[in-house]
Amino acid sequence: MKGSGREAAGTLVLDAAEPGAVDLAAAVLRDGGLVAFPTETVYGLGADGLNPAAVRRIFAAKGRPADNPLILHVSGPEMLGQVVREVPAEAGALMREFWPGPLTLVLPRQPAVPDEVTAGLNTVAVRCAAHPVALALIAAVGRPLAAPSANRSGRPSPTRAEDVLEDLAGRIDAVLDGGPSGVGVESTVVDLTVEPPAVLRPGGLPPEDLRRVIPALVIGAGSEAGPARSPGLKYTHYAPRAYLVLVEGPAEQVGAEIRRRAAVLRAAGRSVAVLAAEESRDRYPGERVVILGSRRDPERAAAALFASLRDLDRSGIEVILAEGIPRRGLGLAVMDRLERAAREIVKLEEDES
Ligand code: TXA
Ligand code: MG
Repeated sequence: MKGSGREAAGTLVLDAAEPGAVDLAAAVLRDGGLVAFPTETVYGLGADGLNPAAVRRIFAAKGRPADNPLILHVSGPEMLGQVVREVPAEAGALMREFWPGPLTLVLPRQPAVPDEVTAGLNTVAVRCAAHPVALALIAAVGRPLAAPSANRSGRPSPTRAEDVLEDLAGRIDAVLDGGPSGVGVESTVVDLTVEPPAVLRPGGLPPEDLRRVIPALVIGAGSEAGPARSPGLKYTHYAPRAYLVLVEGPAEQVGAEIRRRAAVLRAAGRSVAVLAAEESRDRYPGERVVILGSRRDPERAAAALFASLRDLDRSGIEVILAEGIPRRGLGLAVMDRLERAAREIVKLEEDES
């Protein structure tokens, strides 16, 4: 490996497939450095999760508010003893069924977990990611890695190494490039310290699957920003630079509304793109259309969502008009991210005339 990585503004770019790349990244992490790495959901920005100074660097690099806690990534349940006080029966059942995978569990914390990780809470979020590079990296470090999504705070999460560099080149030590993330939205966060257990953030594991193991599971009203935050704050997460308008309702009416808005905007000299489902490809003749999966296949929409937002930003588009999709399966997570990315949400009712 030695020296075969390239550099971007001082950040080492390592090809995860190169021999020695993972060991080099692990050495940087053990020294208290920051390394972005691929997971099956999105890229994470990793630091030694038991080293408070290293964890503080994550907040500085991302520009992340200190009161937003981080997920500790483990290589398997055997690593949990260091960070979690107890594993309730329901948590054990979820781990057996869905780990490694896009599921984060909030559990009672061990005192050894730095306050920097948990933002002072008495709980800690843990996840075992289903990505060979992530698992190999954590095993090589031999400690849990604190890792939020590897974007500047507020921006869409990165699903490719180039997205990480766009936001963080020069601010982190290295990125391990393992190709694009397959799932495309972050993990589902489930709080097991409340009764009944609650989904705090919809994500890569649909609630329908979780309910097979925990039928009583509720979808928490609290957002990931925590309870009682202002809607304004809530809607600026995952935001592209473009002004995003989310239009929801019956497909026919959504199509008409988007066509009307696109025409008005273009007449005013604005550049516009439409984010549409495969089924409505032909609804927007003459418009720049980016296909975001299909209404029946929200997994494709999830995989393409953040990359599409970033690509549209790079091409300088000023306004994105996005169709809503049904909140089934991964559609729930996709709609959650679109709502938070949106500056404006239009809800159209069934036309009764
Ligand atoms: O898929 C993912 O989860 C990615 C990859 C890198 O693993 N990570 C990720 O991390 O999305 P981040 O920091 O962007 O989001 C973590 C979420 C936040 O909504 C945070 O508020 C919540 O988990 N969280 C962390 N610790 C928590 C705790 N103790 N109690 C409640 N929520 C917590
Ligand atoms: Mg994030």
